[in-house]
Formats: sequence, C-alpha cells, structure tokens
Amino acid sequence: MHTATHPLARLETPAAVIDLPRMQHNIQRMQARMAALGVQFRPHAKTSKCSPVVQAQIDAGARGITVSTLKEAAHFFADGITDILYGVGMVSTKLPQALALRRQGCDLKIVTDSVASAEAIVAYGAAHDEAFEVWIEIDTDGHRSGIRPDEAALIDVARVLHAGGARLGGVMTHAGSSYDLDAPEALAAMAEQERAGCVRAAERLRAAGLPCAVVSVGSTPTALSATSLEGVTEVRAGVYVFFDLVMRNVGVCATQDVALSVLTTVIGHQADKGWAIVDAGWMAMSRDRGTQKQKRDFGYGQVCAIDGTVLAGYVLSGANQEHGILSREGTPEPDIAARFPIGTVLRILPNHACATGAQFPEYQALAQDGELATWSRFHGW
Ligand SMILES: Cc1ncc(COP(=O)(O)O)c(C=O)c1O
Repeated sequence: MHTATHPLARLETPAAVIDLPRMQHNIQRMQARMAALGVQFRPHAKTSKCSPVVQAQIDAGARGITVSTLKEAAHFFADGITDILYGVGMVSTKLPQALALRRQGCDLKIVTDSVASAEAIVAYGAAHDEAFEVWIEIDTDGHRSGIRPDEAALIDVARVLHAGGARLGGVMTHAGSSYDLDAPEALAAMAEQERAGCVRAAERLRAAGLPCAVVSVGSTPTALSATSLEGVTEVRAGVYVFFDLVMRNVGVCATQDVALSVLTTVIGHQADKGWAIVDAGWMAMSRDRGTQKQKRDFGYGQVCAIDGTVLAGYVLSGANQEHGILSREGTPEPDIAARFPIGTVLRILPNHACATGAQFPEYQALAQDGELATWSRFHGW
C-alpha cells in the first residue's frame, strides 16, 4: 500500500497505534496457554488502561482483572467488571475508596504484606462493618514487595486478618525479576520458582488452619515460560497484550508481535550525522530505556514503515521532549534525506508498552481492513 493512502496517513502525529490483529493474536496465545495449563487468567489492566482492550481480554476468556490503581478499579467497575484485584499494597488512606467500591457492589480484593497494614484493614473494616477480602503478597524472587514463603510474618499477617474479621482470600506473587532473563531454561526455572514459592506459602497457611483458596502468580515472561502450574489457581499478566521490545529481548515474543507503536513524522535532517529528526521524542515514547541493559539496545524504539514493516537497523537513537533522532545502527546512512524525506510517516515500536501507552490520552486502533477507531485510555490516580 502506498504511504499516502495508508489509513494511518491521515492521523496527526505523534499518535499511539494499536495493531488489532496482533493484539488479538497475543490475547489468544496467552488464553490458550492458560487453558492448556489448567488455570484461570486475570489480565492486568494497567498496560492498556483502556476499556475495549480489556473487553477483548474478557471476551477471550479472562476471569476478572488486576488493576494498579483504585481509579482503574472504579473505571472498569463502571464498565461492568466486578471481580477486581487491586494488586498494590493497601495503605490505610486508600481504604475509604476501597470501601466505596465494595459498597457499590464491586468484588474488590486488596493486598497486603505487613502486620501494620493488616491491622489497619481490619480496624477500618470493623469500624465500617465491612469484611474486606485480602490476599497476602508473597515475595518469590526478592524483586519487590511481599513476604517470603517461609517467613514467620506470613502466618502473623494471616492471623491478624482472619481473627480481625477480614476474608483471607489467598496469596499472590509477581516474579518481576523474570524481566532480567533471556534464556528459555532460566525463564522456566523462574516460573517454577514463582509457582513453588506461592504454593508453599498457601500450604503453610492451610497447615496453620487458615483459609487460602486462591494461589495467584504471574508476569508475562513467567506466564509464557511455565511448564507446570500445579497448585496455582490463576495467573496474571499485563504487557503480553501489546508486547514490546523488552519482551522481545526477554525472548517471549517476536518483534512482529509488538502491537503498540508510535506514529511519527519526519520533520528534518542532520545529513552529516546521518540523522532524521521525527516528531516523537520522549514525551511520546516515554523515558523508558528498558532495552539498554539487554542483549540488544533499541535506543528509544525500533523504526518501522507506516504499514508496520520493520526497517531493520534503524532505531530512535536519541530523544528530546518532542524531537526524536532516527539513525542507522553502525554506519550512518549516507543520504538520510533521500531515505526518509520530510513528511515521511513512520511507526516506532516501544521499549515498554505500559510506559509508552501512558504518554497518550487515546489509542488509534487499526483493524485488519484498515478501519480506524479512537479508543480513550485514562491516567492518574
Ligand atoms: C502485581 C502484578 N501482577 C501482574 C503484573 C503483570 O506483569 P507483566 O506486565 O509482566 O505481565 C504486574 C506488573 O507489574 C504486577 O505488578
């Protein structure tokens, strides 16, 4: 298709474009994998923060969602989704918001990993006659928050919740250090470590006579690398819906699977340096340089033609707020102005889809037949 007649050519740039066939493929792939492993799937809505994207995940078979803010919870509850896990540690100042959602009928689950927060939850619950459902966060890889599976604190927190009138729903973990890996064996081992640690925590709770129905694990790399999920009841993953260059480097998707790109226009050149200047700087791509420490550094993104064809070797090597610097890896392009004339419209694949999406108030969703739809996304807390 000629550039000028491509449906994206009529959009203002920069714009965040979703390739819908790729997104649907990513959704189907994950859902099929979860079905094969015999677990339920609870996608993380923080990647898209967009109703039609989350609806596509639900339509494919997802059960409930994970959110990273209570604003997301309120937004998706208003869409009719009731089974929502707020996957960030609860703090007392957010309990009124959580209570309001539950009072409206939202089956909101909250998370804690400390006795102090557990006490605040049960005290607030008792004062408002509310039995919050609480999941205990488990640290299975030393990467972030959570209680280690064998720590005494696990039982202490559980007892505070259980005795205090909260509903102890289960345990959850997120092996985010899987992002640091890129070998299939290491990824499978991390998935097993995540599974085994979370199951171990659940077993300890049950052995102590405490309820623990849910065992929830997941990150995109571990979800796609697990070979057995015995003892696990559900998996969560977020970025898989779009994928990105970090996931490509981790090895769980191909460059051609990346469904989110930034549409940009060539606005100038520095011929002697072999640069084309585009109107997508870090304000559009985000400051995320996640591929910098990986085996292949894509700068601020991989350059593609308007139709999505990867232009191998061309990357966004630098970014100011609204200027991106497009250059060829290795030797500079001898005639960059001829290769990318002013006005050329390109697409840039991002390092981190969650961060790049967050730069935009809406997505341009591009269907197989070229039809374009504008899908709003929300931000903030
Ligand atoms: C609690 C929790 N669950 C699930 C996920 C999803 O991880 P990913 O985007 O790697 O799929 C995240 C991501 O940060 C998370 O924080």
